Amino acid sequence: MRSWSLNSQRRLIGTAALVTAAAGIYWAFFSEGFPILWGPSASAEEIAEGRELFEHVWEPHDPLAHGDGLGPVFNARSCAACHFQGGLGGGGGLEHNAVAFEVLPRPDDRTFHNGGLHQFSVDPAFQESLELLKRLYPAVANRTVSASGECGPVTRTVAGFNPVRTESLQATALFGAGWIDLISDKAIAYNRRKRLAQGIVKEMNLEFDGVAVGKLRTLPDGRVGRFGWRAQSASLQDFVGTACANEIGLGTPDVEQASPLGAPGLKSAPDLDKKQFRALVAFVKTLPRPVEIPPEDAAQRLAAAHGKEIFKSVGCAACHIPDLGGVSGIYSDFLLYTLDDPAPTPGPGIYGDQPPEPRPDDAPNPSEWKTPPLWGVADSAPYFHDGMSPTLQDAIVRHRGDARAVSEAYAQLSAEDKQALVTFLGTLRAPPNATPLRDPSVTELANK
Ligand code: HEC
Ligand code: HEC
Repeated sequence: MRSWSLNSQRRLIGTAALVTAAAGIYWAFFSEGFPILWGPSASAEEIAEGRELFEHVWEPHDPLAHGDGLGPVFNARSCAACHFQGGLGGGGGLEHNAVAFEVLPRPDDRTFHNGGLHQFSVDPAFQESLELLKRLYPAVANRTVSASGECGPVTRTVAGFNPVRTESLQATALFGAGWIDLISDKAIAYNRRKRLAQGIVKEMNLEFDGVAVGKLRTLPDGRVGRFGWRAQSASLQDFVGTACANEIGLGTPDVEQASPLGAPGLKSAPDLDKKQFRALVAFVKTLPRPVEIPPEDAAQRLAAAHGKEIFKSVGCAACHIPDLGGVSGIYSDFLLYTLDDPAPTPGPGIYGDQPPEPRPDDAPNPSEWKTPPLWGVADSAPYFHDGMSPTLQDAIVRHRGDARAVSEAYAQLSAEDKQALVTFLGTLRAPPNATPLRDPSVTELANK
């Protein structure tokens, strides 16, 4: 009897240990993300078809299209036109920036509109411009706002409110996009929770690193955004569909082609059929991932290794975390941050002239941007969402706001250490096996 109970106790302890170990493994893998052993894959045939579609220069009523082909409005005639630096799928230069717009809710129209302002149209009647956008959504003259004043609510009339806002966005490199697609939502959320918890421990020890933890972009359907400068897309397939529709005016089975501003309802059959769209996604998904290439020169190699340490010790790695969700060397947490300093407190008389802008709950603030993955960064100049930072050095010193503490620590570094940090970033290269463009002249934007 006694031995049975000892045995059963042992068995119980054994089972408990097993369950704990299994729970630990589950926790470690499912929350941090399984190391991804098999990267994105697709058949050689699909990839080859996708490459043709990526490089194809589209025409109106194109023989490859099942609808009306290029347009009605578009920014370029091929994907390769904007994604080419360091090989097919890379980033683009400033001249390949796309213009995004937002129209904030107005008293007579409470809808929040957003989209792209296209550079070209197949028919001059559809040509878009900032002037047209402003004509369609004019500034609201003399808006009345209510605010609580010292002696109760006050209503004032404020100067005109311009609901239109535009932004110039740089074409990002797509190398390794299929790996980003494989990172689980859980891994992104878990990393954020881990940083929040570490922050609490640090606070209890009265240590502050001063780096705010960014916002997770949860889309209305519950998925976690990670593609695009504002993490507006949760999957590569979604982004490719939007890119077809907005950049080239190609409808796909999932997304209709972009309609010209002020002329909605120009319907056409999807330009790409299911098979073509799958092939295009397969090509983008299997683009090789960026690599870390140490310099050949021994002294430079030492400097790069030292720079990699500084990257961590100075605090860059808080946001640009080296490994996430089983993907190593990605250098991003995919969270949203504000890197601008807060606007100065307005002086007397100015207060309230610009009331807070009404925004939908799920739209990030205009100052919020996603931490971009730094893999391949040496080959994707210029930098930041608008491409207004020509060099890596310029990009580093532009970090303020949520990264202020890190920028201050960076400013304290010796000139040698600062150089070492840039030398390290210089090792993060586009994949050397990227496919060269068949026709490099496609990168010259043209509407003819
Ligand atoms: C006119 C230039 C232009 C063309 C043409 C273009 N893109 Fe892009 N692409 C951009 C810009 C700008 C961004 C960043 C947009 C953003 O974040 O809102 C981008 C971002 C992307 C991303 C998101 C990458 C990431 O990691 O966030 C994907 C995927 C993409 N493009 C695929 C394509 C495909 C496929 C095509 C062809 C159908 C295409 N693009 C055509 C300019 C272009
Ligand atoms: C608080 C989070 C945070 C910290 C800390 C941080 N970054 Fe960033 N980093 C960002 C965000 C967000 C962007 C994109 C901003 C934008 O586009 O407006 C960015 C952009 C960049 C870019 C440009 C990338 C591109 O593709 O355009 C580089 C390079 C960069 N960071 C390097 C660094 C280095 C080096 C450090 C440390 C000195 C650092 N970052 C610290 C969040 C951070």
